[in-house]
Amino acid sequence: MVMDNMIVAPTEDTAQRAAARARLDRLWAAGTAFLGTEFAILAGAMSWVSERNLVSAISNAGGFGVLACGAMEPDRLAEEIAATQALTSRPFGVNLITMHPRLDDLVRVCIEAGVAHVVLAGGIPPGPAIRAIKDGGAKVMAFAPALVLAKRLVRMGVDALVIEGAEAGGHVGPVSLTVLAQEVLPFIRTVPVFVAGGLGRGEAILSYLEQGAAGAQLGTRFAASEESIAHERFKAAFVRANARDAVTSVQLDERFPVIPVRGLSNAGGRRFLQHQADTIQRFLSGELTREEAQLDIEHFWAGSLRRAVVEGDVENGSVMAGQSVGMISAVQPVASIIAELVDQAVEALVRREAPAGES
Ligand SMILES: Cc1cc2nc3c(=O)[nH]c(=O)nc-3n(C[C@H](O)[C@H](O)[C@H](O)COP(=O)(O)O)c2cc1C
Repeated sequence: MVMDNMIVAPTEDTAQRAAARARLDRLWAAGTAFLGTEFAILAGAMSWVSERNLVSAISNAGGFGVLACGAMEPDRLAEEIAATQALTSRPFGVNLITMHPRLDDLVRVCIEAGVAHVVLAGGIPPGPAIRAIKDGGAKVMAFAPALVLAKRLVRMGVDALVIEGAEAGGHVGPVSLTVLAQEVLPFIRTVPVFVAGGLGRGEAILSYLEQGAAGAQLGTRFAASEESIAHERFKAAFVRANARDAVTSVQLDERFPVIPVRGLSNAGGRRFLQHQADTIQRFLSGELTREEAQLDIEHFWAGSLRRAVVEGDVENGSVMAGQSVGMISAVQPVASIIAELVDQAVEALVRREAPAGES
């Protein structure tokens, strides 16, 4: 005799999966409605990586791509937006760095191009930029590194927030997503909050949705996707790396602040420590003023992300990567990364409904 709980009939299995998928869709409904997408999965903007090809591939796969403006001038941004629009008719966002000297012009470019979502990164965004974006009919997203700032951003009119944990790749704050989520998610209910940092599997995304997140933002996994234009050696380094290889830059002396950046440890990172030590020595001997020494330290990494992403120099460039890099075992198409994440979340929900002892 075959026990009921030993075999699950295909129709029952399909029905369970459909129910789990419907549950997932309810959990991230605020996120998908806000983004205008099938899945509440964003690919965070990554300088040199998030350009027309990757962004359109993500949006075409049902996620939400975000163009990285970085240091682009307005004309160049307009060109990149138009090129992306030629590759997808689905929504995507544009990430602008608030300290860009031509922020107002960049905002105008986004509005004129009909971009629906502008992400303001790199500090508390200026009120006039928020107003200009909203007056132009687009939605504003911003990063909240603490609850007090999340509340302030909501008061300033920001339409959605991203909370990014220290596990993430690139410039990071000091607090992990585990803690930031507990600090922010229970208390911000009026706007969607997307979580980022260290996310590599659907089960983890599901757990944050259940805590109140509207969706998830990933960077590292998409940087190593097939559609990413990053150099082959950059992607190969991601496939090889373990979580522990994605480390934050170290500051040697509190008088000379170093903005923490998470990336794969390499010869460049080791030389940066020596460079700081030498520069501090030159300051102490009176050869450099404090300002000169600070600038010298800041300039060490100038152009280094490009060196790694575009030229493939993964030993001397800045190979920005989050701890989720350890979960990358192959270069995959964007659509299969997204499908895998959704599948893992759905499977987790199915397992939860399974009778005890069955898995
Ligand atoms: C190579 C790389 C470059 C990045 N560049 C930027 C950037 O220019 N602007 C930005 O707001 N975030 C940047 N990020 C952060 C991502 O947008 C995203 O929030 C982060 O990667 C999410 O965490 P994860 O790496 O653990 O998935 C970058 C991340 C990586 C891996």
